[in-house]
Amino acid sequence: MAIVGVLPGPVMAQPQEPNLQTPPRKSPTRNSHDFLGLGRVPDAEAAKRGEPLYKENCATCHGADARGAQAPNLVRSVFVLHDEKGEGIGQVIRNGRPQGGMPAFPNLSDSQQYDIAEYLHEQVELAANRGLYKHSDTMTSGDAVKGKTLFAENCAACHSVTGDLAKIGAKYPQPAAMLARMAWPANPGPRQATVITADGVKQSGTLVHYDDFETTLRTAEGSSLTWPTDSVKVEIPDKLAGHRALLPRYSDDDLHHLTRYLLTLK
Ligand code: HEC
Ligand code: HEC
Repeated sequence: MAIVGVLPGPVMAQPQEPNLQTPPRKSPTRNSHDFLGLGRVPDAEAAKRGEPLYKENCATCHGADARGAQAPNLVRSVFVLHDEKGEGIGQVIRNGRPQGGMPAFPNLSDSQQYDIAEYLHEQVELAANRGLYKHSDTMTSGDAVKGKTLFAENCAACHSVTGDLAKIGAKYPQPAAMLARMAWPANPGPRQATVITADGVKQSGTLVHYDDFETTLRTAEGSSLTWPTDSVKVEIPDKLAGHRALLPRYSDDDLHHLTRYLLTLK
């Protein structure tokens, strides 16, 4: 991920030409986009077509704004973030995640799946930019005292300003970098998982491969075990879930207060 020294002023997602191979550009949008490691710029036309499809088919579970309801938040989903051209999302739409409570949508065509995926990517983009568009004001608009209170109320259950975040201000000295870090904390790395077989045997290890067809674990002893995904239950604790679940609830101002406070931790 390229760390840019000076971030441009207002950055809002702008309509992009419907082109999967959107070339890298030196526009403000592109800069924040690269900065956040978001990959390809979403296809705005497809996203527009995808919106009503999303609302009709997905919103009841994932929320009208895709920020989660009874089903997970898709705007902060690492799975959605890493989906390149809608293939991963398309696969989930086509096959569902029956074990996780997500139905299959075999009636949505390939192009409708693509449109919904683009809509979701655009929501990710907008959410990410939201955290940045006023970033240049952060140093002046954020209030570290308010940030400290917000931190005590919302973050102290998991973080400590004398422990894990003690030097966070030195680690991310730029307000924009700090904000981005709060919005997109470290990638989760190798995932630990527990596989429960049909006859109730539990096996834990590092998840090497996991899709709708096959699940492979590497055990602590180093052996590799593979199951057809639909024959087992796979439990993947997401240590960032709590962090992510809270983010959509903060206002821009809250995020700036928090940023300003975290910057004082050096
Ligand atoms: C009946 C409720 C329900 C509906 C309707 C639904 N989903 Fe889901 N969806 C879920 C649940 C529950 C999960 C989590 C399942 C799991 O991970 O095992 C999920 C998971 C997902 C994931 C994977 C997220 C991740 O981070 O792994 C994607 C992508 C997704 N849904 C997209 C959609 C789309 C697009 C639609 C509409 C076409 C849709 N869902 C409709 C319940 C639903
Ligand atoms: C439910 C637990 C939980 C809550 C609540 C939570 N976080 Fe996190 N946060 C995490 C976890 C887990 C990580 C990932 C830590 C890692 O990768 O080592 C993380 C990562 C971060 C990082 C990146 C740290 C780094 O070194 O890159 C920042 C900054 C951060 N959180 C700030 C906050 C702030 C500010 C709040 C409150 C507004 C908050 N978190 C609330 C669990 C939580």
